[in-house]
Amino acid sequence: MSEQTLSNLLKEDRRFEPPTDLAADANLKEEAYARAAEDREAFWAEQAERLDWTQKWDQVLDWSNPPFAQWYVGGKLNAAYNCVDRHVEAGRGDKVAIHWVGEPVDDKRSITYAELQAEVSQAANTLTELGVGTGDRVAIYMPMIPEAVVTMLACARIGAPHTVVFGGFSSDALASRLVDCGAKVVVTADGGYRRGAPSALKPAVDEARAKAAERDGHTVEKVLVVQRTGGEVAWDDDVDVWWHESVAKASPEHQWEAFDAEHPLYVMYTSGTTGKPKGILHTTGGYLTGCAYTHWAVFDLKPETDVYWCTADIGWVTGHSYIVYGPLANGATQVLYEGTPDAPEKGRWWQIIEEYGVTIFYTAPTAIRSFMKQGREIPDARDLSSLRVLGSVGEPINPEAYVWYREVVGGGRTPVVDTWWQTETGSIMISPLPGVTHGKPGSAMIPIPGVSADVVTEEGESVPNGSGGYLVLTEPWPSMLRTIWGDDQRYKDTYWSRYAQQGWYFAGDGAKKDDDGDLWVLGRVDDVMNVSGHRLSTTEIESALVSHPKVAEAAVVGAQDPDTGQAVCAFVILRDEFIAEADDAGEGSDIVEELRNHVRKEIGAIAKPRQIMIVPELPKTRSGKIMRRLLRDVAEHREVGDVTTLADSTVMDLISGRLTSGK
Ligand code: WTA
Repeated sequence: MSEQTLSNLLKEDRRFEPPTDLAADANLKEEAYARAAEDREAFWAEQAERLDWTQKWDQVLDWSNPPFAQWYVGGKLNAAYNCVDRHVEAGRGDKVAIHWVGEPVDDKRSITYAELQAEVSQAANTLTELGVGTGDRVAIYMPMIPEAVVTMLACARIGAPHTVVFGGFSSDALASRLVDCGAKVVVTADGGYRRGAPSALKPAVDEARAKAAERDGHTVEKVLVVQRTGGEVAWDDDVDVWWHESVAKASPEHQWEAFDAEHPLYVMYTSGTTGKPKGILHTTGGYLTGCAYTHWAVFDLKPETDVYWCTADIGWVTGHSYIVYGPLANGATQVLYEGTPDAPEKGRWWQIIEEYGVTIFYTAPTAIRSFMKQGREIPDARDLSSLRVLGSVGEPINPEAYVWYREVVGGGRTPVVDTWWQTETGSIMISPLPGVTHGKPGSAMIPIPGVSADVVTEEGESVPNGSGGYLVLTEPWPSMLRTIWGDDQRYKDTYWSRYAQQGWYFAGDGAKKDDDGDLWVLGRVDDVMNVSGHRLSTTEIESALVSHPKVAEAAVVGAQDPDTGQAVCAFVILRDEFIAEADDAGEGSDIVEELRNHVRKEIGAIAKPRQIMIVPELPKTRSGKIMRRLLRDVAEHREVGDVTTLADSTVMDLISGRLTSGK
């Protein structure tokens, strides 16, 4: 983000006070900040009381071996029981847990907590029958159908950590995750509906299973398959099992057992600064406490009357914390939607809000920006007056999108909570509270009660108001990641080494404090890009590119994009024998398209570069490090910055010359 944009942002002076009725009845009041600051552990103990424990903890936090935290030490609980059974036992079995909306119109189903309990129990019985024991890993590669939620909860119920892989990832990406976490069973579907058409999933699982076996000698023992589209699937009788022939026929009775608070709940892979994705490990008691507390406090959830909807995919952490664990632990009623916002028509989301009377809506800035482009007539055609709180997550929300969201979607009544957090933090860390904090477009405001954050210099000094620096979390929190799966050292190096002396968590984001001391998160300071709210690693895409036989070298940068926040831009040096081919064809040549498709095949469609530029050289320092800053200048059509640290300072002229000549 340029200094110019930054100072414009910080001059933003629109303020929105919390609505009076919401403030009067708010779940969390102003006093919570002071109370949490005074005795953080007591505050977090109080939040853990939201859950049902079979055995209470002896110690709230054990931080004797940092950065390896243990929360609620000695406590025991079952996450699925907390998300499902306890609501049934409390007499709320007939309450709708999930209003599921399939992408094909009229393909919908509402599931009560009692029904959810029966289905989760059946799935737990089937997984056990397939040989899944406590501690075994189960991979989930599914569309947004109720069975995905059921499977996650069934895993939690039997203490088998799940790893959900986003359905848009390729078979290669899936294979590497299956191998890294050693998944024993994969749960998938024949396919799902996207943009009005069935899209197959099972073939990618078959390929991934074969690759995992061939390349790494890893055996996936069973694949459990939901029939969703009815499309043709290849079948291996020794491995594949239909959901409707197993789960649907299993007993709906299942005796859950309690697990240790620190029992692994799931592994979620996310992009880091190297090519290899990191398996972020979350455990049971602290994670669930963080999700339940924040979902209740930040959205001001009133479980009796609210209808909540989070549009994330369960393949991302937002879907884990704010579709599955938070809302269900709180006994909420929510909408789960399978498809894309514009299928079969542009106003599909607004139609769903109207139909179900959604009161709390949580989505990403990239979606809001695309609706702004389509024009307000589309949401205006629907009755959205049920909405009372709006949330935003995944990337900085620009003030114009914030104001449009509030005015057009929220009818000017609804607070907008801009929530900052990460896969690693497990739950929301920085956000306004809708009944307490006034809204300031573009600012995530301050840490929620119980969380402490700061913006600091390279040396670890807290920056004064009006200045920028690195975002850090200065105290451990219950839903923090516990490690990177199988790689404690990388966990320490990535998050805890930069401010090792102070013992702070380094988030990898840059931020600024405005004159009031409120926080503005500006984006990543490392080699991670944020495209439409999805984290992508520059290095991962670079390795995908160089795995193509025509590519000698590649450098990838995230360039600003008005729609997706950032966009993937790649600079590629071809192998000598292919240079002539590219020269003949010029920009937009087959080779560029071939490379874009190659990235899609290696990683997935989300990683496909917006632009690939074939260049003769890459800018490198004397030690051989690629200076992405300069490439970003080119990709964003800016004058190229300081080139004095380049090994060969004429390289940038070569690159720019090449681009302006169109070759
Ligand atoms: C970015 C998604 C600004 C940030 C929950 C972070 C945000 C990364 C915001 C985590 C926000 C998320 N304002 N930036 N409200 N929320 N980010 O792990 O760069 O997919 O580090 O978790 O998204 O992405 P992740």
